[in-house]
Amino acid sequence: MQGDIERILLDAPAIADRLDELAATITADIERATGIAEDSDPHNTLTIVPVMTGSIIFVADLVRRLPIRMRIFPMSASSYPGTATESSGKVELSDLSRLPDDLAGHHVLLVDDILDSGRTLRRVTEELRGRGPASLHTCVLLRKQRPEAMDFPVDYVAFDIPDAFVVGYGLDYDDQYRNLPQIVTLRPEVVTG
Ligand code: IMP
Ligand code: MG
Repeated sequence: MQGDIERILLDAPAIADRLDELAATITADIERATGIAEDSDPHNTLTIVPVMTGSIIFVADLVRRLPIRMRIFPMSASSYPGTATESSGKVELSDLSRLPDDLAGHHVLLVDDILDSGRTLRRVTEELRGRGPASLHTCVLLRKQRPEAMDFPVDYVAFDIPDAFVVGYGLDYDDQYRNLPQIVTLRPEVVTG
């Protein structure tokens, strides 16, 4: 697996440092905007919606840095089937039935791995907005430096990266490499899609 790496864009310490910073910003913003804090009453709770599977590592590291009352409801979206390294254009949402019925009136933080064409986040935010949350904030680990992504409105971005296909820290190629602690590009001969 390590031998498939072309270049390390972000190593584990760089990710951890940035997450400390980002989490402090998000905590302060959420407390200010919603009144939700560590000691808020059980009805005043933030709902985190991670988009699986790409955000699995990011959300795990992020929520442990947010000392606020919360509940977590993962959902799934897919737009890069199998060995494709370009989005298929069609976004499929699943696990919607696992979202709570009471999103209306709750403050929601949507967490995704990467903002590329913006199709996934557009589709997911439409779905969540339709449920009438009190507020909806969006947070992505990575944003690719391409016009569609840079123009898409998101509240929090951990890192802007070059417009390249990356894996690791939750992101996959053909369902592999999610467990790499770094965010990397793959050697061209590995990426056949
Ligand atoms: P979008 O809908 O084009 O913005 O793509 C977003 C989704 O495609 C992400 O949530 C990822 O699952 C996947 N994706 C986009 N770019 C990459 C990449 O560079 N590596 C791995 N997955 C990616
Ligand atoms: Mg995804």
